[in-house]
Amino acid sequence: MRTTLVANLEEAGYRVTACNQARAAIEHVEKDAPDVVLADLRLPDGSGLEILESLKEIKPEASFVLVTGYASLETAVAALNQGAYAYISKPFNMDEVHATVRNAIRQQRLLLENQRLVENLQQTNKSLGEEIGERQRAEEALAERSTALEAANRELEAFSYSVSHDLRAPLRSIDGFSQALLEDYAEKLDEQGKDYLTRIRASSQQMGELIDALLNLSRVVRAEIHREAVNLSEMAKELAAELKQREPRRQVEFAIQGGLEVKGDPQLLRAVLENLFSNAWKFTSKHPRARIEFGLTQHDGKQTYFVRDDGAGFDMTYKAKLFGAFQRLHKAAEFDGTGVGLATVQRIVRRHGGEIWAEGEVEKGATFYFTL
Ligand SMILES: Nc1ncnc2c1ncn2[C@@H]1O[C@H](COP(=O)(O)OP(=O)(O)O)[C@@H](O)[C@H]1O
Ligand SMILES: [Mg+2]
Repeated sequence: MRTTLVANLEEAGYRVTACNQARAAIEHVEKDAPDVVLADLRLPDGSGLEILESLKEIKPEASFVLVTGYASLETAVAALNQGAYAYISKPFNMDEVHATVRNAIRQQRLLLENQRLVENLQQTNKSLGEEIGERQRAEEALAERSTALEAANRELEAFSYSVSHDLRAPLRSIDGFSQALLEDYAEKLDEQGKDYLTRIRASSQQMGELIDALLNLSRVVRAEIHREAVNLSEMAKELAAELKQREPRRQVEFAIQGGLEVKGDPQLLRAVLENLFSNAWKFTSKHPRARIEFGLTQHDGKQTYFVRDDGAGFDMTYKAKLFGAFQRLHKAAEFDGTGVGLATVQRIVRRHGGEIWAEGEVEKGATFYFTL
């Protein structure tokens, strides 16, 4: 019978070793680590289950099949509990043996494949974990740096605030005494002396404007934002009216889109429009006629507001300088100013969570876009 079984399995392509004793079988298991062991329960020198024990140790994924003639169901169940893959009762049917061996091997393959997948997953998990750890460390470092930066910024703001403040008093006295000289000693001064004093006064007034702009800038950075509904169109109309009133002789046409409502800080947003409008007004002043437009457009799917004029424009090569404090693309002799307006505007826009950028062409005008 046994030889029939061996021959039959070999014919099916398996490499088969037959042992008559438990001892010999265990030695074979230790030496060869077979995929499947078929064993009787009772062997001349021991129990088939001893082979099962050594198989579990040598090759845990291998299968043990109990072949038993008069095993009670209990014995079979005990063997299964102990780790046997299956049991076949004698006299056995060859088809059943083949099916059992085939399935046992297939199950082993799946098991190994599964193990491999689990290991892969664990490896992936581990490197993901490492990546997350690295990212966390980077984020922590970044947070630390930004806290330090914020502190430095606050200090700088406080410094510029107090410096600007302290500069005002001596400046007032320079301007005041120059004025006193001009008025009270007019007859003792010749024209050149008067001219010098007039220049001193103009310069100190220019410096006063700079200081005010600087103070304003640091105030904007520190101000708390109070968001509420703001009608930008109405604001723009008021500003346009103010500008026209100041220089009624200028031929400037305003085109202001109606109904533009946003959520934001009314005072700060007024400062934004005021700066952009007064720039548009100023940089169109060399043209006999001008048009200033305010409206809404879409940019990258975002609501984008714009202020456009057809004035002096600017060279796009230097657009990066536009929003820097004290940066100007035009000479003071051409257009007066402090160069702090757009820096202030940019800070306000950013504090509202938006961005600002500009397009321009020399003598063709400029457009300032912002989101909120
Ligand atoms: N509408 C505009 N057309 C052309 N250039 C502009 C316009 N607005 C701003 N600029 C350029 O940006 C510079 C910075 O603007 P800003 O900060 O408001 O300073 P200021 O108005 O005091 O010159 C200006 O000096 C000018 O060169
Ligand atoms: Mg300005």
